[in-house]
Amino acid sequence: MGSHGLVCAMISILLLLAFQLELVGARVSHQHELQMNDRIGTVVPPPEMAGTCASVIIPQGYKCEEYEVTTEDGYILSMQRIPVGRIGGGGARRQPVLLQHGVLMDGVTWVLNSPEESLAYILADNGFDVWIANTRGTKWSRRHVSLTPSNPAYWHWSWDELVTYDLPATFNFVYQQTGQKLHYVGHSLGTLIALASVSEGRLVDKLMSAALLSPVAYLSHMTTPIGILAARAFVDQIVNWLGVAEFNPKGPHVAHFLDALCLEPGVDCYNLLQSFTGNNCCLNASTVELFLEYEPQSTATRTMVHLAQTFRDGIITKYNYENREINIENYGQSTPPIYNMSNIPNNLPLFFSYGGRDSLSDVHDVELLLDNLKFHDGDKLTVQFVEDYAHADFVMAVNAAQIVYNAVMAFFNRQ
Ligand SMILES: *[C@@H]1O[C@H](CO)[C@@H](O)[C@H](O)[C@H]1NC(C)=O
Ligand SMILES: *[C@@H]1O[C@H](CO)[C@@H](O)[C@H](O)[C@H]1NC(C)=O
Repeated sequence: MGSHGLVCAMISILLLLAFQLELVGARVSHQHELQMNDRIGTVVPPPEMAGTCASVIIPQGYKCEEYEVTTEDGYILSMQRIPVGRIGGGGARRQPVLLQHGVLMDGVTWVLNSPEESLAYILADNGFDVWIANTRGTKWSRRHVSLTPSNPAYWHWSWDELVTYDLPATFNFVYQQTGQKLHYVGHSLGTLIALASVSEGRLVDKLMSAALLSPVAYLSHMTTPIGILAARAFVDQIVNWLGVAEFNPKGPHVAHFLDALCLEPGVDCYNLLQSFTGNNCCLNASTVELFLEYEPQSTATRTMVHLAQTFRDGIITKYNYENREINIENYGQSTPPIYNMSNIPNNLPLFFSYGGRDSLSDVHDVELLLDNLKFHDGDKLTVQFVEDYAHADFVMAVNAAQIVYNAVMAFFNRQ
């Protein structure tokens, strides 16, 4: 497969996933509204009208505060804070934890299960001060000091800018608000941007430890059979896709293309979530429906291309403009600079949890990442392998509290 073929493959996979989510989302949204109203016995504003605190977290019985953080390049990001657990207490020095979601998702993914099952609630109930980040371009983080999302310039970023701007902005904000170093939890792309950041020496002075769930760094071993089919269908359309600034999974451009693709023989769009993320063992069907109501979220098309480059090239670099002169203009060299995972400080406490059935964060790719960390101080590195888990289990499995989150908290409490 040529390089464009691979880029296309990656984009196709993600497009297909997004489309699948959209289809199912439309089917269940009405049902969910009724459930929400039943549950708290009053009329809840629809999710379009109220932020994550008002629409999801407060109805579960938690205190929740909304914040806005402006990045150095002008993006206005929303954050939610759950300052205390349901029963309060925990003393004055509750350790802050920043939760960073993955690509095509937003912060709401941390709070969709019950309080006994969702990481954000569990952390709050166990004495942590919980901060939820929402990446630029997602539903509650679509404002900018001068640009609107309808302006293509708003979307001129890849995941490099999440490393350079979003993560430092949210990190510094929490640090300033609490006066304490942070624990970090990332899922999927939320792991990659943290690893890339600390490999460049960013954040480390304010970071107490990092838990990386379903870690994404290398992507070459990704195993999604449907991607191969999609690549064949998509192979000639890369130029079109690069012309689309906002990668909006709910937009007509994406939907139209996918309508056609889903009719191809052998393409099973109904089971796509499964084919894409792997065979998740332990999702609650009601939670998946809720998830599909809120997600997927937009990102910049360039972010998808950037991930596809990582898949293609087998090394983790900054965004490749696929043009020698433009690379030189931006980086002073003809190829994009590498994020070298071996440069992550050896004494930074890291917790990894990865799954045996994860077809996005494949076992071989995680092993490659861990090999980059072979000189890490032994007592600063905790690695957990969960044989039954696939990509989405780490944020939504009904038993993630017992299997993963308890281990995460034990790790935090050791620091
Ligand atoms: C699944 O979600 C539903 C609705 O929130 C809940 O009533 C049920 O207890 C959940 N099941 C499990 C196993 O968590
Ligand atoms: C990353 O850094 C390590 C240690 O400094 C070095 O040995 C290795 O060659 C570097 N990797 C790349 C891909 O540059």
